[in-house]
Amino acid sequence: MATEDDYTAQPFVPDHGGLAALREAAAGCRGCPLHRNATQTVFGAGKATARVMLVGEQPGDQEDRQGRPFVGPAGKLLDRALAEAGMDPADTYVTNAVKHFKFTQAEPRKRRIHKAPTLREMTACGPWLAAELALVEPELIVVLGATAGKALLGSSFRVTEVRGTVLEREIHGRPERLVPTVHPSAVLRAEDREGAYRGLVSDLKTAAQAL
Ligand code: URA
Ligand code: SF4
Repeated sequence: MATEDDYTAQPFVPDHGGLAALREAAAGCRGCPLHRNATQTVFGAGKATARVMLVGEQPGDQEDRQGRPFVGPAGKLLDRALAEAGMDPADTYVTNAVKHFKFTQAEPRKRRIHKAPTLREMTACGPWLAAELALVEPELIVVLGATAGKALLGSSFRVTEVRGTVLEREIHGRPERLVPTVHPSAVLRAEDREGAYRGLVSDLKTAAQAL
């Protein structure tokens, strides 16, 4: 019998056909149970020629409805911060560690509340992120928050220890450069929102300069 440890997107990932083929195949992914309650797969967005890959956690309520990453409140804030840091949106490919929205809901038709993905779900979804990395081959990865950090750098990742620095790590057999920062949703929740926003912009400037 299949156990939870068997969760994986791997059999759904095509080995040719580029980003378009990946996106199409991801729409039918059943690699873990998160597809059951979500509206649709939210795959990465941007060109294969992008120089920077931004990796978030998972789609939120708006992303789940619209089918595109970072189109809700956190995405709006991220767009503003990227512009302020001088990063060209045409140079960015935006995606998430997990491609389906995970939420709790007290009752049907009540507000859907974001729930953090488990390590198991992150691991199951990992083959999609690995395939995106292999195709886009970004010069730099911007790691948005703890979930993306754990997905890319392992469970010992602590955003406060490494944010705003350029890390060099081997990921899926490729040497990568990464700049971790906080998740834009954390900025929206912060008590000192302006200070948190400044911190995000400062880290993104470090990323822009590392290009
Ligand atoms: N938060 C994320 O991590 N990703 C999104 O796409 C939206 C909100
Ligand atoms: Fe597949 Fe990832 Fe969705 Fe799970 S979360 S069903 S692994 S795309």
